[in-house]
Amino acid sequence: MTSLQDLSLEQLRAHAVKTFRHGGGSRPDVLLIRVNGEEAVLKDFTRADPWFRRLVGPLSVRREARALRQLDGARGVPRLLRVIGRDALLMEYMPGTSTREVPPGGLTPQFFERFYRLVDRLHEFGVAHCDLRSQGNILVGADGEPHAVDFVAHFRRPRRWNLPGRWMYGKFCEADRVAVARLKRSHAPDLLTESERQALARDRKTPLERAARLVGKSVRNVSRWLLTRRS
Ligand SMILES: Nc1ncnc2c1ncn2[C@@H]1O[C@H](COP(=O)(O)OP(=O)(O)OP(=O)(O)O)[C@@H](O)[C@H]1O
Ligand SMILES: [Mg+2]
Repeated sequence: MTSLQDLSLEQLRAHAVKTFRHGGGSRPDVLLIRVNGEEAVLKDFTRADPWFRRLVGPLSVRREARALRQLDGARGVPRLLRVIGRDALLMEYMPGTSTREVPPGGLTPQFFERFYRLVDRLHEFGVAHCDLRSQGNILVGADGEPHAVDFVAHFRRPRRWNLPGRWMYGKFCEADRVAVARLKRSHAPDLLTESERQALARDRKTPLERAARLVGKSVRNVSRWLLTRRS
Protein backbone atom coordinates (compact mmCIF):
# COMPACT_ATOMS: atom_id res chain seq x y z
CA MET A 1 0.00 0.00 0.00
CA THR A 2 1.36 3.47 -0.90
CA SER A 3 2.76 5.38 2.06
CA LEU A 4 3.92 8.94 2.68
CA GLN A 5 7.53 7.79 2.37
CA ASP A 6 7.13 6.53 -1.23
CA LEU A 7 5.55 9.54 -2.89
CA SER A 8 7.20 12.30 -4.90
CA LEU A 9 6.60 15.93 -4.03
CA GLU A 10 3.98 16.31 -6.77
CA GLN A 11 2.22 13.13 -5.66
CA LEU A 12 2.19 14.34 -2.06
CA ARG A 13 0.76 17.69 -3.17
CA ALA A 14 -1.99 15.84 -5.01
CA HIS A 15 -3.01 14.30 -1.65
CA ALA A 16 -3.47 17.68 0.09
CA VAL A 17 -6.71 17.80 2.06
CA LYS A 18 -6.22 21.20 3.71
CA THR A 19 -4.16 24.34 3.13
CA PHE A 20 -2.83 25.99 6.30
CA ARG A 21 -1.14 28.71 4.29
CA HIS A 22 -0.76 29.44 0.59
CA GLY A 23 2.75 29.78 -0.79
CA GLY A 24 3.88 32.78 -2.79
CA GLY A 25 6.22 35.70 -2.26
CA SER A 26 8.61 34.66 0.47
CA ARG A 27 6.33 31.97 1.90
CA PRO A 28 5.96 28.21 1.52
CA ASP A 29 2.75 26.29 1.00
CA VAL A 30 1.86 24.55 4.24
CA LEU A 31 -0.45 21.64 3.45
CA LEU A 32 -2.09 18.78 5.31
CA ILE A 33 -1.48 15.58 3.36
CA ARG A 34 -3.50 12.40 3.78
CA VAL A 35 -2.44 9.13 2.16
CA ASN A 36 -4.28 5.93 3.05
CA GLY A 37 -5.19 7.27 6.48
CA GLU A 38 -1.65 8.52 7.24
CA GLU A 39 -1.42 12.28 7.81
CA ALA A 40 1.50 14.69 7.63
CA VAL A 41 2.25 18.36 7.07
CA LEU A 42 4.14 19.38 3.94
CA LYS A 43 6.05 22.67 3.96
CA ASP A 44 6.94 23.38 0.35
CA PHE A 45 8.69 26.39 -1.18
CA THR A 46 8.15 25.40 -4.84
CA ARG A 47 5.37 27.99 -5.21
CA ALA A 48 7.34 30.82 -3.60
CA ASP A 49 8.72 33.54 -5.87
CA PRO A 50 11.72 32.35 -7.92
CA TRP A 51 14.50 34.00 -5.91
CA PHE A 52 13.03 32.94 -2.63
CA ARG A 53 12.63 29.44 -3.98
CA ARG A 54 16.28 29.37 -5.01
CA LEU A 55 17.86 31.04 -1.96
CA VAL A 56 15.57 31.27 1.03
CA GLY A 57 13.66 28.01 0.44
CA PRO A 58 16.59 25.56 0.66
CA LEU A 59 18.07 27.47 3.59
CA SER A 60 14.77 27.44 5.49
CA VAL A 61 14.17 23.77 4.76
CA ARG A 62 17.67 22.82 5.95
CA ARG A 63 17.37 24.98 9.05
CA GLU A 64 13.97 23.67 10.06
CA ALA A 65 15.00 20.05 9.38
CA ARG A 66 18.11 20.48 11.54
CA ALA A 67 16.07 21.80 14.46
CA LEU A 68 13.46 19.04 14.15
CA ARG A 69 16.21 16.38 14.05
CA GLN A 70 17.77 17.79 17.19
CA LEU A 71 14.35 17.86 18.87
CA ASP A 72 13.45 14.32 17.80
CA GLY A 73 11.57 12.73 20.71
CA ALA A 74 10.62 16.01 22.39
CA ARG A 75 6.94 15.98 23.32
CA GLY A 76 4.95 18.79 21.69
CA VAL A 77 7.25 19.05 18.65
CA PRO A 78 6.44 17.49 15.25
CA ARG A 79 8.76 14.68 14.18
CA LEU A 80 10.62 15.22 10.93
CA LEU A 81 9.46 12.55 8.46
CA ARG A 82 11.37 13.45 5.29
CA VAL A 83 13.29 16.19 3.57
CA ILE A 84 12.20 16.22 -0.08
CA GLY A 85 14.87 17.65 -2.34
CA ARG A 86 15.88 21.25 -1.68
CA ASP A 87 12.43 22.76 -1.49
CA ALA A 88 10.27 20.86 0.94
CA LEU A 89 9.97 18.88 4.12
CA LEU A 90 7.37 16.57 5.53
CA MET A 91 6.66 16.45 9.25
CA GLU A 92 4.29 14.91 11.72
CA TYR A 93 0.82 16.47 11.82
CA MET A 94 -0.01 17.89 15.26
CA PRO A 95 -3.81 18.16 15.34
CA GLY A 96 -4.90 21.29 17.14
CA THR A 97 -5.98 24.90 16.94
CA SER A 98 -3.49 27.69 16.58
CA THR A 99 -3.57 30.06 19.56
CA ARG A 100 -4.17 32.83 17.01
CA GLU A 101 -7.65 31.34 16.55
CA VAL A 102 -8.39 30.76 20.23
CA PRO A 103 -10.72 33.51 21.52
CA PRO A 104 -9.61 35.59 24.55
CA GLY A 105 -10.23 33.65 27.76
CA GLY A 106 -9.94 30.35 25.90
CA LEU A 107 -6.62 29.28 27.45
CA THR A 108 -6.44 27.78 30.92
CA PRO A 109 -3.83 28.16 33.70
CA GLN A 110 -2.83 24.50 33.04
CA PHE A 111 -2.20 25.35 29.41
CA PHE A 112 0.30 28.07 30.39
CA GLU A 113 2.06 25.71 32.86
CA ARG A 114 2.37 23.12 30.12
CA PHE A 115 3.57 25.78 27.69
CA TYR A 116 6.38 26.76 30.10
CA ARG A 117 7.28 23.07 30.39
CA LEU A 118 7.37 22.77 26.60
CA VAL A 119 9.65 25.81 26.32
CA ASP A 120 11.99 24.33 28.98
CA ARG A 121 12.00 21.02 27.08
CA LEU A 122 13.08 22.76 23.85
CA HIS A 123 15.93 24.38 25.75
CA GLU A 124 16.95 21.05 27.37
CA PHE A 125 17.28 19.68 23.84
CA GLY A 126 19.48 22.68 23.01
CA VAL A 127 17.09 24.64 20.79
CA ALA A 128 15.68 28.13 21.34
CA HIS A 129 12.60 28.57 19.14
CA CYS A 130 12.94 32.36 18.65
CA ASP A 131 9.52 32.85 17.02
CA LEU A 132 7.05 31.98 19.75
CA ARG A 133 5.74 35.54 19.67
CA SER A 134 3.86 34.54 16.57
CA GLN A 135 0.67 32.96 17.88
CA GLY A 136 0.32 30.89 14.71
CA ASN A 137 3.36 28.89 15.82
CA ILE A 138 1.71 27.60 18.99
CA LEU A 139 -1.04 25.03 18.69
CA VAL A 140 -3.41 23.68 21.33
CA GLY A 141 -4.14 19.97 20.96
CA ALA A 142 -7.56 18.44 21.68
CA ASP A 143 -6.16 17.30 25.07
CA GLY A 144 -5.12 20.90 25.87
CA GLU A 145 -1.42 20.12 25.31
CA PRO A 146 0.62 22.87 23.60
CA HIS A 147 2.60 22.12 20.45
CA ALA A 148 5.28 24.30 18.85
CA VAL A 149 5.75 24.47 15.08
CA ASP A 150 7.80 26.57 12.65
CA PHE A 151 11.43 26.24 13.79
CA VAL A 152 12.96 28.18 10.89
CA ALA A 153 14.13 31.02 13.16
CA HIS A 154 15.61 28.74 15.85
CA PHE A 155 19.01 29.18 17.51
CA ARG A 156 20.93 26.13 18.71
CA ARG A 157 22.95 26.02 21.91
CA PRO A 158 26.57 26.64 20.93
CA ARG A 159 29.51 24.74 22.41
CA ARG A 160 30.64 25.56 25.93
CA TRP A 161 33.69 27.58 24.89
CA ASN A 162 31.68 29.84 22.56
CA LEU A 163 30.92 32.42 25.22
CA PRO A 164 29.30 35.10 23.00
CA GLY A 165 27.17 32.37 21.38
CA ARG A 166 26.17 31.02 24.79
CA TRP A 167 25.24 34.53 25.90
CA MET A 168 23.03 35.03 22.84
CA TYR A 169 21.48 31.60 23.32
CA GLY A 170 20.59 32.59 26.87
CA LYS A 171 18.91 35.75 25.57
CA PHE A 172 16.88 33.78 23.02
CA CYS A 173 15.81 31.28 25.70
CA GLU A 174 14.69 34.19 27.85
CA ALA A 175 12.74 35.63 24.88
CA ASP A 176 11.00 32.23 24.44
CA ARG A 177 9.89 32.36 28.06
CA VAL A 178 8.70 35.96 27.72
CA ALA A 179 6.64 34.79 24.72
CA VAL A 180 4.61 32.63 27.12
CA ALA A 181 3.91 35.71 29.25
CA ARG A 182 2.96 37.67 26.12
CA LEU A 183 0.45 35.01 25.13
CA LYS A 184 -0.93 35.10 28.66
CA ARG A 185 -1.23 38.88 28.45
CA SER A 186 -3.24 38.65 25.24
CA HIS A 187 -5.48 35.69 26.25
CA ALA A 188 -5.70 35.73 30.03
CA PRO A 189 -4.14 38.90 31.51
CA ASP A 190 -5.64 38.11 34.93
CA LEU A 191 -3.32 35.12 35.20
CA LEU A 192 -0.13 37.18 34.87
CA THR A 193 2.15 36.91 37.88
CA GLU A 194 4.20 39.82 39.19
CA SER A 195 7.43 38.37 37.79
CA GLU A 196 5.80 37.92 34.37
CA ARG A 197 4.63 41.55 34.45
CA GLN A 198 8.18 42.61 35.24
CA ALA A 199 9.60 40.42 32.46
CA LEU A 200 7.13 41.98 30.00
CA ALA A 201 8.06 45.50 31.10
CA ARG A 202 11.79 44.67 30.74
CA ASP A 203 11.10 43.13 27.37
CA ARG A 204 9.59 46.36 26.08
CA LYS A 205 12.48 48.44 27.31
CA THR A 206 15.54 46.40 26.30
CA PRO A 207 17.33 48.39 23.58
CA LEU A 208 18.94 45.17 22.29
CA GLU A 209 15.53 43.57 21.75
CA ARG A 210 14.17 46.70 20.11
CA ALA A 211 17.20 46.94 17.79
CA ALA A 212 17.00 43.21 16.94
CA ARG A 213 13.32 43.55 16.09
CA LEU A 214 13.98 46.57 13.90
CA VAL A 215 16.84 44.86 12.06
CA GLY A 216 14.74 41.70 11.61
CA LYS A 217 11.85 43.68 10.17
CA SER A 218 14.06 45.71 7.85
CA VAL A 219 15.94 42.66 6.55
CA ARG A 220 12.67 40.95 5.82
CA ASN A 221 11.15 43.99 4.09
CA VAL A 222 14.23 44.78 2.01
CA SER A 223 14.75 41.16 0.96
CA ARG A 224 11.08 40.83 0.09
CA TRP A 225 11.31 44.02 -1.99
CA LEU A 226 14.48 42.82 -3.75
CA LEU A 227 13.54 39.22 -4.32
CA THR A 228 9.84 39.08 -5.04
CA ARG A 229 8.26 39.50 -8.44
CA ARG A 230 6.47 42.82 -8.62
CA SER A 231 3.45 43.14 -10.85
N1 LIG B 1 3.26 20.05 12.14
C1 LIG B 1 2.13 20.75 12.09
N2 LIG B 1 0.99 20.21 12.58
C2 LIG B 1 -0.17 20.91 12.51
N3 LIG B 1 -0.30 22.14 11.98
C3 LIG B 1 0.80 22.72 11.48
C4 LIG B 1 2.08 22.07 11.51
N4 LIG B 1 2.99 22.88 10.93
C5 LIG B 1 2.33 24.00 10.55
N5 LIG B 1 1.01 23.91 10.88
C6 LIG B 1 -0.04 24.92 10.62
O1 LIG B 1 0.36 25.72 9.52
C7 LIG B 1 0.48 27.10 9.90
C8 LIG B 1 1.65 27.74 9.17
O2 LIG B 1 2.84 26.99 9.43
P1 LIG B 1 4.24 27.68 9.74
O3 LIG B 1 4.08 28.64 10.86
O4 LIG B 1 5.25 26.61 9.88
O5 LIG B 1 4.50 28.46 8.38
P2 LIG B 1 4.86 29.99 8.15
O6 LIG B 1 5.25 30.14 6.73
O7 LIG B 1 5.82 30.45 9.16
O8 LIG B 1 3.49 30.68 8.40
P3 LIG B 1 3.18 31.96 9.32
O9 LIG B 1 3.86 33.11 8.68
O10 LIG B 1 1.68 32.02 9.27
O11 LIG B 1 3.73 31.67 10.68
C9 LIG B 1 0.65 27.06 11.42
O12 LIG B 1 0.15 28.25 12.00
C10 LIG B 1 -0.20 25.86 11.82
O13 LIG B 1 -1.57 26.22 11.90
MG1 LIG C 1 4.84 30.43 11.45
